[in-house]
Amino acid sequence: MSETPSPRLRPTNPSGVLYMGIDLGTSRTSVAASNGVRESVASYVGYPKDVVAKKALKKDVLFGDEALGNRLALDFYRPLAGGVIQHSDGDGSNPDAKRFLKATQDLIRHAISLARPKQDELIYAVVGCPAQCSLRNKSSIVEAVRPVVDSVMIVSEPFSVAYGLDLLTDCLVIDIGAGTTDLCRMHGTMPTADDQVTTPFAGDHVDQTLLELLKKKCVGAAISIQMVKDLKEKFSFVGEKRDPVAVDLPVNGKPTRFEVAAELREACRSIVPSMVDAIHQLIASFDPDFQSRLKNHVLLGGGGSQMGGLREMLEVEMRERLGEGRVVRVDEPTYGGANGALKIAHDMPPEFWEKVS
Ligand SMILES: Nc1ncnc2c1ncn2[C@@H]1O[C@H](COP(=O)(O)OP(=O)(O)OP(=O)(O)O)[C@@H](O)[C@H]1O
Ligand SMILES: [Mg+2]
Repeated sequence: MSETPSPRLRPTNPSGVLYMGIDLGTSRTSVAASNGVRESVASYVGYPKDVVAKKALKKDVLFGDEALGNRLALDFYRPLAGGVIQHSDGDGSNPDAKRFLKATQDLIRHAISLARPKQDELIYAVVGCPAQCSLRNKSSIVEAVRPVVDSVMIVSEPFSVAYGLDLLTDCLVIDIGAGTTDLCRMHGTMPTADDQVTTPFAGDHVDQTLLELLKKKCVGAAISIQMVKDLKEKFSFVGEKRDPVAVDLPVNGKPTRFEVAAELREACRSIVPSMVDAIHQLIASFDPDFQSRLKNHVLLGGGGSQMGGLREMLEVEMRERLGEGRVVRVDEPTYGGANGALKIAHDMPPEFWEKVS
């Protein structure tokens, strides 16, 4: 990239630019950098609540699983929801908006530090966000990365997944995250708004649905959303065949066994109809000469793509509604977005970059 570095980080002895792909996710933030580093951290940020907490934790800010594990002693943030920075839709005057922006900035700073940039390296970052992220949401992401990078580009998440796999033509990418499921059809050019659909039915929706179902089924049990998420990640499935799933939940403090396979399946299935509708919409509105190719190149990525039996279920639904369908799962659901974003960073000409200084 031949552009003027920001004065803030102008290197005295330049060793060049560190390109980074950042998948700033509701659930996980993953980075892939041109120095070969790939790292991932759960998208949690926490600040010690009082002096006792600070003395015990010996840190001003905690991230990821460490923050989650100590959350009772922390002002605890999951700064992104629905794939965007929480409260970023307002005019920014809301005090919550400022707190969540700060938590996001700290998370991004931490994620970038995981890539171990050299002191004098310029950082050019491509950041993934939901396909139909509003302009205001996008500018708040730019604002969040501004203090830590020199140039930034925002791209849609499913586009970066497709780009990373060199699947640029006649392919439909589905990225099932925590906050959103994003779909994007690729036809050899930069996708436009018409090529993309975002639905709020993703991993968090499954967790919330499962929590409600378990509250009904497991009378008297104390259940947290974190327990539900762990349970889902271990046993998730949508298929017909079902093995028993037994869990121990505390009833009045005592672990008690419950059989929850039916609830698990129902919750996992709750995000499928909207996904099938979105697939249908993107295929039916595509050039008819190329619809068949699209139907036979559906790519499933994101953490939620690991639900057992989902690939097969989508194929059955597509055959019923569209006559045919072939779905494959990406090999690396966690790093698909970050890898693709890094590749975009390497390939894009300077005019695509927004300088942030
Ligand atoms: N084995 C699994 N089965 C089902 N869901 C899973 C599994 N592993 C992870 N998940 C879910 O995948 C989601 C996280 O996926 P991913 O890391 O792609 O999301 P994200 O990028 O953080 O979110 P978003 O793209 O919505 O901002 C979470 O809801 C998580 O619980
Ligand atoms: Mg994601």
